[in-house]
Amino acid sequence: MRILHCSDPHFDLSLKTIPWKKWFGKRAIGALNLLGGRGRYFDNAEAKIAALTRFKERYSVDLVLCTGDLTALGLTAELENAAELLAPLAQPPERFIVIPGNHDVYSGDVIRGDHFHLYFGQYMHTDWPQYAVDGPWPIVRLFGEHIAVIAVNSAKPNPFPWRSDGHIPPVQLEALEKILADPRLADRWIFVMTHYAARLADGTPDKPNHGLRNADAFIHACRSIERGAILNGHIHRCYRTPLKKEGLAIDLYCAGSVSMEGRECFWLFDVDARQMQVHRGGYDPDSGEFRIIETL
Ligand SMILES: [Fe+2]
Ligand SMILES: [Fe+2]
Repeated sequence: MRILHCSDPHFDLSLKTIPWKKWFGKRAIGALNLLGGRGRYFDNAEAKIAALTRFKERYSVDLVLCTGDLTALGLTAELENAAELLAPLAQPPERFIVIPGNHDVYSGDVIRGDHFHLYFGQYMHTDWPQYAVDGPWPIVRLFGEHIAVIAVNSAKPNPFPWRSDGHIPPVQLEALEKILADPRLADRWIFVMTHYAARLADGTPDKPNHGLRNADAFIHACRSIERGAILNGHIHRCYRTPLKKEGLAIDLYCAGSVSMEGRECFWLFDVDARQMQVHRGGYDPDSGEFRIIETL
């Protein structure tokens, strides 16, 4: 089975179409970031996702996993726009899984209104609802005889604009441990998705105001996984971090951003009963196409 892991497309609407009245608090800061130039790095996100869809078809990808940050400010209009732009990549919907990033739940009203679920709920189905202890989380999906995907939510609204840290509620981590102990997962490759990075490229934790606050607890909860990977986004660079020294048999893969100008990347995993081969994908601006850059 061929699995593509992408992240952080950060589709944003033009400044004219964003409803100004909704710009308050943290969103105003987010908007200033965009005005200050951050947004221009994602100007061609729509073309990049179309190129990724062509790659998916060219390389016969079976399953696409997206670890969040679909928008800039998490406005309803942006979520609607992101859902429309992702729809071709998300075909068939049962072979696409997406989870929210911090930019998709920028403010509490998005969480309260459950806007993300409204637009992306069809890609957040779980095969094992008995383990969903925190809304839909954790999500468990089984594919064929060899693959299982588990998603936990680490994105939360942040009350202060200078903070963009995440946290996986302990109740989800407890459920994750129970899921991993379920004998039906024995012999499967297990891919655990969350938005925030438990470790940076050099193996250290991210800064408290930008990272996963309970990263150690999350890594500890994954200690029984014998084969598979931890998948995240949030850091806009692709990297792989071995977790051997933390006692884990699996590595962490950050998929960076699929659309950030000059840094476009993703991971591709070829998995069969016995082995996994990993490739890093990148974007060729001359041809406007994604391609495999290296095989690890
Ligand atoms: Fe991001
Ligand atoms: Fe993020």
